[in-house]
Amino acid sequence: MHQEIADLFDLSGKVACLTGGASGMGRSAGRLLSQAGAAVVLGDIDDKGLQETVTSIQDAGGRALGVRTDVQREADVIQLVERAVEEYGRIDVMGNIAGIPQQSMIVDTREEDVDRVLGINLKGVFFGVKAALARMIEQGGGNIVNISSGVIDSAGVATWACYGMSKAGVAMLTKTAAAEGAPHGVRVNAIAPGLVVTGFTERHWLEPDGSENPDKKAAFLKAGSEMAPLGTIGKPEHIAHAILYLASDASEFVTGQILRPNGGVSMPW
Ligand SMILES: NC(=O)c1ccc[n+]([C@@H]2O[C@H](COP(=O)([O-])OP(=O)(O)OC[C@H]3O[C@@H](n4cnc5c(N)ncnc54)[C@H](O)[C@@H]3O)[C@@H](O)[C@H]2O)c1
Repeated sequence: MHQEIADLFDLSGKVACLTGGASGMGRSAGRLLSQAGAAVVLGDIDDKGLQETVTSIQDAGGRALGVRTDVQREADVIQLVERAVEEYGRIDVMGNIAGIPQQSMIVDTREEDVDRVLGINLKGVFFGVKAALARMIEQGGGNIVNISSGVIDSAGVATWACYGMSKAGVAMLTKTAAAEGAPHGVRVNAIAPGLVVTGFTERHWLEPDGSENPDKKAAFLKAGSEMAPLGTIGKPEHIAHAILYLASDASEFVTGQILRPNGGVSMPW
């Protein structure tokens, strides 16, 4: 017998922890998981953005809490997960969403660039997986969703070495964590988004003084849309929908997988 559709996506009584909650996909996912009934604990280094997300969730009647978290620091990530448990009693969903772009030719890439990108995009996700997995194993279940990137499906593209390494690492980490979590009822999946308009893409149209260049923005959005067979560029909501699916009972037979909301840009098996 099928569960009611609303029940499949219902997160009432559940607790979700999301990194990168101050902006883009993390903010959108926080709002959506809250609408689905979860209490939401958001971590980010951007205090102002974090507070805006928390306030918007609370204003809509949801339960939310912001915890300043630098995902490069394991102690911060442990503290984020522990705050969720202290405040709401458990952790059912961990979304490792925080990440940064970085582009440079390999020969021009400095040691600090490598450390920073791998520190945030790969070590940060590892710390999130580790902290959540420990709690979820104790609890006897949970769901972890990691954000990788569509870059993992591309042929080598000049300037994306460090970013690509970090996101390929997230995909592999996801599979290992899925194997370790499965005997304990913990599912672990990843999302490899295509191009999505967020703080991540703004650098393509912001001038050095921080103002928007509307022509550059229009050209970027046009090129991004034309790249996808579906003829559209991604919105943070597209990724939040995928996170809700992976965080809910709707995906209860799914683990160790990479979901690709990307408008059809790449279509691996
Ligand atoms: N936007 C895209 O086109 C795209 C495509 C594929 C993958 N991604 C991935 O999606 C994820 C979310 O990015 P987004 O597009 O929403 O961008 P975004 O810039 O809007 O959000 C990223 C968030 O991560 C936070 N962050 C950065 N460093 C941090 C740190 N050290 N500790 C904690 N938080 C930190 C930022 O403050 C920001 O709030 C990232 O992992 C990114 O690599 C983005």
